[in-house]
Amino acid sequence: MIKIGIIGAGRIGKVHTESITRYVKGAEVKTIADPFLNEATAEWAKAQGIAHIETDYHKILNDDEISIVLICSSTDTHSQISLEAIAAGKHVFCEKPIDHDVAKIKQVMEALKHSNVKYQVGFNRRFDHNFMAAREAVKAGKIGDLNILKVTSRDPGAPPVSYIKVSGGIFLDMTIHDFDMVRFMSGAEVEEVYAVGGVLVDQAIGEAGDIDTAIITMKLSNGALAVIDNCRRATYGYDQRVEAFGSLGQVAIGNDTDSTAVISNATGVIAEKPKLFFLERYMQAYVDEVSSFIDAVVNEKEVKVNVEDGLKPVLIGLAAKLSIAENRPVKIAEIAAQYGL
Ligand SMILES: NC(=O)c1ccc[n+]([C@@H]2O[C@H](COP(=O)([O-])OP(=O)(O)OC[C@H]3O[C@@H](n4cnc5c(N)ncnc54)[C@H](O)[C@@H]3O)[C@@H](O)[C@H]2O)c1
Repeated sequence: MIKIGIIGAGRIGKVHTESITRYVKGAEVKTIADPFLNEATAEWAKAQGIAHIETDYHKILNDDEISIVLICSSTDTHSQISLEAIAAGKHVFCEKPIDHDVAKIKQVMEALKHSNVKYQVGFNRRFDHNFMAAREAVKAGKIGDLNILKVTSRDPGAPPVSYIKVSGGIFLDMTIHDFDMVRFMSGAEVEEVYAVGGVLVDQAIGEAGDIDTAIITMKLSNGALAVIDNCRRATYGYDQRVEAFGSLGQVAIGNDTDSTAVISNATGVIAEKPKLFFLERYMQAYVDEVSSFIDAVVNEKEVKVNVEDGLKPVLIGLAAKLSIAENRPVKIAEIAAQYGL
């Protein structure tokens, strides 16, 4: 039985814990650690059958029985805990982003070069059945050469401004998944970014120095063009779609709904809204990404989302930020050069 420690018992820590306790055979969550554990979370952890509930994550790192850690704590802790976990010889699944600071991601990359541990980053959308099917179609040449990739990604509602202030901004918090999707779907690298943005949902987001609506155009290394449209408000639910258009045709994926029922009557034709948000839409993808990571550790396979895949969307996000600030296209190489990459 492979033993796992979970660091951070918030929203996503609970999701990953439940994925393992319910669905992953041969793996056991031995310990969960969170300095701000409340009674309700401790009760929840007990109900999951977790034997050790701690406030200090070092209890996990110092436990020789535990070989895998999942870093599910707040973003500002990820790179430091990654470094300590790698030094302790633990295989690491780290939630996105590894860090907002490229220099700190570089430290993690350097540490990995001198160790044998597996390191996977939490880009869950790569494990979603719809995105995977579209990627397979592109990869198999079913749409010919990719010409245009369109990613729509709109949240049902904006998070509180207190969250926005520490989020790193829309590009590093929300669009980071879409940048990953552009790389995943195209199988190419983003070379240049031009972004426009506005504050159309909540003026308080603008006062906090962020935007809530954006369009990002990109030039890719295979010559294709990509566009992402983002908004922090979609009144009809979580709107996440992709269309890949190529020389032989196109492949598109729509939103998941609770059912495929369509009611037609004298007032109109009404179908279900998209699922509410990411926890509803991607629950199976979360199970599959963690299962895939544990499988990579147990059966010595390559992880499906590696540390480079964690770095690249951060570079693209920083380029998009600079593009907005200076109202110009920004090459990713310009950002990479600032960090000696
Ligand atoms: N991949 C995804 O779809 C996805 C979805 C949600 C969140 N996330 C990422 O997961 C991380 C957590 O997000 P969340 O929504 O669960 O936030 P959250 O605030 O619900 O949970 C974070 C938890 O980390 C704990 N924590 C803080 N410092 C800690 C430390 N030193 N040791 C252990 N625990 C510590 C907090 O007490 C809190 O319980 C963020 O980095 C976020 O970007 C990813």
